[in-house]
Amino acid sequence: MKPKLRLAVLASGSGTNLQSLIDQSQQGKLDVEIVLVISNNPQSGALERAASAGIKNLCINHRNFPQRQDFDRAVVTALQQAKTDLVALAGFMRIISKVFLEAFPQRIINIHPALLPAFPGLHVQKKALEYGARFSGCTVHLVDDDVDTGPIILQAVVPIHSNDTESTLAARILEQEHKIYPQAIQWFAEGRIIIQGRSVTVSGARSADVALINPACE
Ligand code: GAR
Repeated sequence: MKPKLRLAVLASGSGTNLQSLIDQSQQGKLDVEIVLVISNNPQSGALERAASAGIKNLCINHRNFPQRQDFDRAVVTALQQAKTDLVALAGFMRIISKVFLEAFPQRIINIHPALLPAFPGLHVQKKALEYGARFSGCTVHLVDDDVDTGPIILQAVVPIHSNDTESTLAARILEQEHKIYPQAIQWFAEGRIIIQGRSVTVSGARSADVALINPACE
């Protein structure tokens, strides 16, 4: 039998994306072995979620490393010791340095709660609301040497409602994150992701066939 893809997840926050990966792998829908969870934040819910699922977890606190590269080196060492094939950033609020990128070329992916290239960076639901955008969503992309700029693998679109707050919009987006991140990782596990420059093709995947209009036409 082919060995499973060895996935490591890096998270800083509550870890609901990690939880969706754990749940889907337990249900047999995501065919990977989650070999390690790392958080830079000792309070991260991701560490508890990993522990409850019996997954090896480590806190590597960035505050103990004066230089970003030294923190990244510690993370890379842990990932290599766990024989990681693919690194998934799931609400990991640290910028990644060259040291990390070079250790896992085209093997680091991220989920971002906006429709890139619109609204990169932080506080993106607030930015989308303030801009007056009619849609937002989430993006799974490869990580490159800038912030939220790497080649896009897949996206989900959600409407923005006139009475939305940052938190109602974030919740609507998060629901889709929990669908598209496991899907993207499953495609990696199946060897179906083809990367050519900025263009990522998913072999055999069906293209979306609906257009959305918001507010709806009458
Ligand atoms: C998610 O919305 C994720 O897209 C976002 O942080 C949240 C983490 O939630 N990531 C970023 O903003 C990365 N720049 P979670 O801890 O519940 O998975």
